[in-house]
Amino acid sequence: MAITGLPGGRAASAPLMGHESEPTMFELSVAGRSAAQLRTTGVPASALSDMLDARHLREEPVVLADLSERDLVGHFTRLTHRQFSVDLGAYPLGSCTMKYNPKFCDAVAGDPSLNGVHPAAPAALTQGWLELLVSLEERLCAITGMAEATLQPAAGAAGELTGLLLMRAYHAARGEDRRRVIIPDSAHGTNPASVTLGGYEVTTIPSNERGLVDLASLRAALGPDVAGIMLTNPNTIGLFEEEIEEIAGAVHDAGGLLYYDGANLNAILGVVRPGDMGFDIVHMNLHKTFATPHGGGGPGAGPVAVSSRLAEFLPGPKATRLEDGSFAWRTPASSIGRVHGWHGNAMVLARALAYIDVHGAEGLTRVAQHAVLNANWLRRRLAATLPAAYDRPCMHEAVLSATSLKAATGVRGLDVAKALLDEGFHSPTVYFPLIVDEALMFEPTETESPQTLEALAQALERIVAVAGTDPQSLHEAPRHTPVSRVDEARAARHLVATEDAADR
Ligand SMILES: Cc1ncc(COP(=O)(O)O)c(C=O)c1O
Repeated sequence: MAITGLPGGRAASAPLMGHESEPTMFELSVAGRSAAQLRTTGVPASALSDMLDARHLREEPVVLADLSERDLVGHFTRLTHRQFSVDLGAYPLGSCTMKYNPKFCDAVAGDPSLNGVHPAAPAALTQGWLELLVSLEERLCAITGMAEATLQPAAGAAGELTGLLLMRAYHAARGEDRRRVIIPDSAHGTNPASVTLGGYEVTTIPSNERGLVDLASLRAALGPDVAGIMLTNPNTIGLFEEEIEEIAGAVHDAGGLLYYDGANLNAILGVVRPGDMGFDIVHMNLHKTFATPHGGGGPGAGPVAVSSRLAEFLPGPKATRLEDGSFAWRTPASSIGRVHGWHGNAMVLARALAYIDVHGAEGLTRVAQHAVLNANWLRRRLAATLPAAYDRPCMHEAVLSATSLKAATGVRGLDVAKALLDEGFHSPTVYFPLIVDEALMFEPTETESPQTLEALAQALERIVAVAGTDPQSLHEAPRHTPVSRVDEARAARHLVATEDAADR
């Protein structure tokens, strides 16, 4: 089929102009200007010193920028115009998944009957909200094949920590002191971090030459002190673990639990379920699967679903459906306690339920099919330009490698990724997974059209052609964005995290 029409996902018309940096609010500040209008409430005014102990009062007034509303709005609008966003163009960032967020979900979250409710309002007055939370939990359990879930965790990594605390509670209740959690070397960086935060030691096992879990290494690592394994399936190379039943059997036989990092659930929605593969604990990244905002650590949502033997340990309170059809808050018998101040990031949860219900079961299966089709189309289309690290069908993301390009021209994966910005596309993830040399990890997601994927492939072909003639220009890319090539390490090595008057 010929691909006709123009790409809608190329940010060629991005209002990213000029190379001058945007001044800070303090540089724009003029004494006496203000963007705030304080209403009179009728409550009589009283001095702070009458209400607070002197030791809690500042000696000097806090230094704030004085800006008019007009200048403040202009400042933030200019900053947003300098960003690449999912609403602007294709954002094929593998693993972290920046998926287009449909506007109907925003409309749902904008409904005052949902967002005007205080989280402490009594259950009798918030039956609608409780029903929404129970409905979402039921849908997530049906999708994953699990028994119960908590909606509290505020992001994928928070879900991981919650899952590991559930693992601890389960073993502790059985009087077992298990200390190690096994993780494959292809895992997302948050996995070992969560294991450590959860009080466990990490045992890393290598992937085999096909990029999958090496079963012999897994069996060798198992023992009576192993609490469980954390697995991403499809894994972070975008490959489905073919020996998942053998893996599950080996871990369960050793008394361990199987933790499913469901961040990549979007690849298998409606096709296979972690519960049916033998997993005990699953966290989901609602932003990656059900197109809710991905806030770089929050505000997101990373619900955790568990099999029935772990349900009694779930965080509470959780919304529950009572026998008479009404809803109430309930804390499970041996709950690990709260993992969020309230009931989770409620508006993200409302968006996810809207996404699930609008698609329905068939629609969600199509989401997974299109995500996998798009990744494989791109992998095949680019086979001669940037070959895949593992040359076989992938799931929702295609991991390509710039190893041969670097050997021939000196142009690295990083240069290709930066040059893509000048072509109007966001960069893919680079240098991850760590086991792939010069990795370029593309995740087009189900929302990008064939026209956009073709334009992306052509842009990469142009960049690879330039590598042969003018590699230096690629080392300096991007050249047409408001900020050109930055020193990747400087911000981490010279971190300035405060805005003190002395630093200005
Ligand atoms: C495989 C995997 N696990 C865990 C995470 C962490 O999720 P979050 O960024 O929501 O903390 C990610 C990131 O998207 C991921 O790709």
